[in-house]
Amino acid sequence: MPVTKAVIPAAGLGTRFLPATKAVPKEMLPVVDRPAIEYVVEEASRVGLRDVLLVTSRSKKAIEDHFDREAEIEAALERKGDETRLARVRASSSLAEVHSVRQSSPRGLGHAILCAASHVGNEPFAVLLGDDLIDERDPLLEEMLTVQARFGGSVIALMEVPREQVSLYGVATVEAVPSGPDDRYPIVKIRDLVEKPPVAEAPSNLAIIGRYVLAPEVFEVLRQTPPGRGGEIQITDALRTLALRAAEDPQAAPVHGVVFTGRRYDTGDRVDYLKAVIRLACERADLGPELYPWLEEYVAAGGPKEGLS
Ligand code: G1P
Repeated sequence: MPVTKAVIPAAGLGTRFLPATKAVPKEMLPVVDRPAIEYVVEEASRVGLRDVLLVTSRSKKAIEDHFDREAEIEAALERKGDETRLARVRASSSLAEVHSVRQSSPRGLGHAILCAASHVGNEPFAVLLGDDLIDERDPLLEEMLTVQARFGGSVIALMEVPREQVSLYGVATVEAVPSGPDDRYPIVKIRDLVEKPPVAEAPSNLAIIGRYVLAPEVFEVLRQTPPGRGGEIQITDALRTLALRAAEDPQAAPVHGVVFTGRRYDTGDRVDYLKAVIRLACERADLGPELYPWLEEYVAAGGPKEGLS
């Protein structure tokens, strides 16, 4: 069954970006000149997932508004004949059919995904976490959909991270799968998963990054999954159950991983967020030619010369 729906959890409090996120959802923070979440919806839309469900919480109205038409702004730009801006403003409301559902209490990523159950129904679906931006030049999600079509079951995105960072992620134990001539990234079979293990206990440095293509069986497993790390219901724990089931029963839906080697920007961390903004702006034809030489000059002049404040 082809995947047509994407679920984007967007219920987090954004505490790492306070006070910027006191009244503005963290998903709305600009990455260059577009809210972070627009990149993610665009990524889903680009691979044909035009039914997008946002799992939001109280105080996230701005996100829903962003994907709706804004008649007043559009009329003002039309009057001015500002076609370029008009197209950019309209783009966000035509990317996808954006729905939303509320997660009434913050009970974890697994619980947020479970909130999508009735919208998704009995078909495989994608989950995209807004804190991870995948460069549009690197076709991770497309590759994951191909792998899901080949093996069925669920597919998660993995990336090698420095050993000392493994405790920030779900970590996988994997088995290699022979790759085909058209595979862009290595494919592995997931044997086991652990959510945010202490560095010394991590089974590998293969971290789950925020892209999943999930079999609908995950909902039934999530309903049975007790709170795990941080007292929250973890998608990693539900995927572990599916992977262990598949190891015992060859008929059960497998869990595979795609080991991504492209460009990923973590906008959930302040320094990584700033790196993403600078890098993406420098690489843009309308901003880079002015910004990059300035950056080179700033660095050549010794950076923060007045000292750190
Ligand atoms: C979540 C998941 C974790 C995954 C990470 C990817 O954690 O629980 O398994 O590795 O996303 O970004 P969070 O970053 O929301 O704490």
